[in-house]
Amino acid sequence: MSKTVRKAVIPVAGLGTRLLPATKVVPKELLPIVDTPAIQVVIEEVLASGLQEVILVTGRGKGAIEDHFDHSYELEDILTRRAKTDQLNSVRRISKLVRAVSIRQKQPLGLGHAVLCAKEAVGDEPFVVILPDDIIAAKVPCTRQLIDVYHKYNAGVVSLLPVPEEHVSRYGIVHGEHWAPRLHRIRTLVEKPKREEAPSNLAIIGRYVLPPKVFTYLEETPRGADGEIQLTDALQRLARERALIGYEYIGERHDIGDKLGFLKCNIRHALQREDIGPELRQYLRELVSAEQESQS
Ligand code: G1P
Repeated sequence: MSKTVRKAVIPVAGLGTRLLPATKVVPKELLPIVDTPAIQVVIEEVLASGLQEVILVTGRGKGAIEDHFDHSYELEDILTRRAKTDQLNSVRRISKLVRAVSIRQKQPLGLGHAVLCAKEAVGDEPFVVILPDDIIAAKVPCTRQLIDVYHKYNAGVVSLLPVPEEHVSRYGIVHGEHWAPRLHRIRTLVEKPKREEAPSNLAIIGRYVLPPKVFTYLEETPRGADGEIQLTDALQRLARERALIGYEYIGERHDIGDKLGFLKCNIRHALQREDIGPELRQYLRELVSAEQESQS
């Protein structure tokens, strides 16, 4: 019987260089998806997946993320006095949303190192890793889908997405046996391969369910690509010595660490909102037809 998955590790120490200058002072995880910081969207997914505890692995200049999930007495006081009940409730809800602990990653040694920083906080139990650049909209939260696969097969699981061949060098790419719908038994993982060296076009997306043994592998993983400790290298050992399942999740993913992905994610989420969706849809139609006219 596999142990229950209760904890999510969310690395938030990344610099967000692809979104500079917006991320010079503001942590990229606090950039909004319409009106909700990306990290909150991700934490809502964690909670909707039934997890109870979040471990944030933070870095320099990321203190505002912790503040976002804390009480804000001044703001609550002002909203109370002005009788802004809706805003007050939304601000209060956030501070009660989640039990989070923060751990500082003191050196920028990569994703594997960030996960290793959470070793003591996770302890001897399976855990989820969530990369908050990947925002995934899904009926059943992507993290929940992965946890269900983990419990069914009692093996580590990574989320997979087929990507265009010209994009494989942006991702960890896997190869293995496709043994059931959406499921692959992973044999090989390569972090950011050249197009001609990629073993497939199946990319790892930022959701993982991992056994605690991964911490031992990470401790023994030498620095790999870019002088960093790569999570992908530790997962290669997991695949070889135990088992690792790749699961093609059901959902729509946006990479919000990328300018275009960030904009697409915002437009997609805004179009689904009742308060602003219809007007935005109309605006986009007008914009497109005005562009077409000016080109003809
Ligand atoms: C990380 C992982 C990579 C994965 C990607 C998904 O890379 O190292 O294996 O495919 O996230 O978004 P990063 O985007 O942090 O460079």
